Amino acid sequence: MDAFFASPEPHIFRSFREACCGKGSTVLRGLSGTDPVLDFARSTAAGLASAPRSLECRFLYDAQGSALFELITQQPEYYLTRTESSILAANAPAIRQITGPATLVEFGSGNSEKTSHLLRAWLEQTPHVCYVPIDVSESALVEAGGAIAAKYDNVKVVGVNCRFQQAFPLISQLSPSLVLLLGSTIGNLAPAEMSRFLTSMASSMQAGDFFLLGLDLVKPAYILEAAYNDAAGVTARFTRNLFARMNRELGSGIDTESIEHVANFNAAKEQIEIFARFTSRQTLFLEPLGMQFTIPVGELVQVEISRKFRLERTVRYLEEFGFETEAIFADELEWFALILLRRIPKYHAADRGRKR
Ligand code: AVJ
Repeated sequence: MDAFFASPEPHIFRSFREACCGKGSTVLRGLSGTDPVLDFARSTAAGLASAPRSLECRFLYDAQGSALFELITQQPEYYLTRTESSILAANAPAIRQITGPATLVEFGSGNSEKTSHLLRAWLEQTPHVCYVPIDVSESALVEAGGAIAAKYDNVKVVGVNCRFQQAFPLISQLSPSLVLLLGSTIGNLAPAEMSRFLTSMASSMQAGDFFLLGLDLVKPAYILEAAYNDAAGVTARFTRNLFARMNRELGSGIDTESIEHVANFNAAKEQIEIFARFTSRQTLFLEPLGMQFTIPVGELVQVEISRKFRLERTVRYLEEFGFETEAIFADELEWFALILLRRIPKYHAADRGRKR
C-alpha cells in the first residue's frame, strides 16, 4: 500500500476501494517517493530566496503545529471553528438529505472533530459509512482515525497522508462522494492557486458528486485581527513553531525567541496576512542542502495568508468551474458559511473562455 500514489494503475485503486470496506482505521502514505525532510528544505530555500520572502503554510502542521492549531480553535477570539461546527450540527441531516449516502472525503481533516456531526447524520441513514480524511499531518490522521473508529462502530476510516494535489486521483474512484473542505482552509490559497485547485477538484469529481466548502466571510477588521492575534499568544506560538520545526528537522539554529508574530488584515486583498518578524539578525541553516540565509532585523517573512470571502461573488466564481450551488448554510451573523455544491455534467472550458 505504500507505493499507492506512485502508480495510478487500476488494481491499486481497486485495493483502495476495498480498503473502504469493513471497520477500523487505516492510514495510507501518499508521500512515498519524496523525502519529507528534503521537501521541507527545498520549499524553505525557495521561499527564503524569493522577494518578499514567503514560506509554504502546509509546513505549519507537523505534530506540534497540529496540536497548536487545535489549541487556536479553542481560543475565544478564534470564532471560525465553533461557528462552523454549530452550522454543521444544525444542518448535517439536511446535507445528508441532499447528498444521499455519499462517501465522505475530507481535505485537510486535522482532528476531524467537526466532521463527527456529519458522520452521525450519515449513520442515522446508513448502516455503514466510509470516511476518507486527507491530511499532511500523519499524527493528526492516526489520532483522529483511531478516535472515530473507537467511537463509531460502523465507520471505516481510510486516512491518506499526502498533499492535496496528490489526492486528486483518488477522488474519481470514490464517487458517489461528498468532498469536504472545511474551516476556510481554501483561504490559504492565493487566487491563482485556488483557481488551479478548483480546476483539479472539478476534473477529479464525477458529475453529481458533492462538494461542501467552508468559508470565512469578510467582516470588520478588528474582529478578524483579534482572531489571528489571540490574547493567550497561541497563534504566535503556531507561527514560531514553523521555525522551531526548521531547527528540529533542518538544523536551522534559529533563536525562536527573536521571532515576533505579526497578523494584519489587508483590506484591499481582503485577507489576513501572517508574518514572522525577527528582532535580531538571524542566520538560518538548511543542513540537508548545505545552504544558509541571513535575515535582517525587522524583515517580514510571510508564513500564511487567510483570505476572507463574499458569498454571492464566490458562488458565481465557483460556477465557472462547473459547480452549482445546492444550498448555503450560515450562522445568524453571517460570519461563516458552508456552500454545498454539486458537480454539474461536463462543463466545457472552451465555453467558459467564450463567455468572457
Ligand atoms: C486552518 C487555514 C483555516 O486561516 O484561519 C489560524 C489557519 N492560522 N490561525 C485560518 C490559522 C492562524 C486557519 N486555517
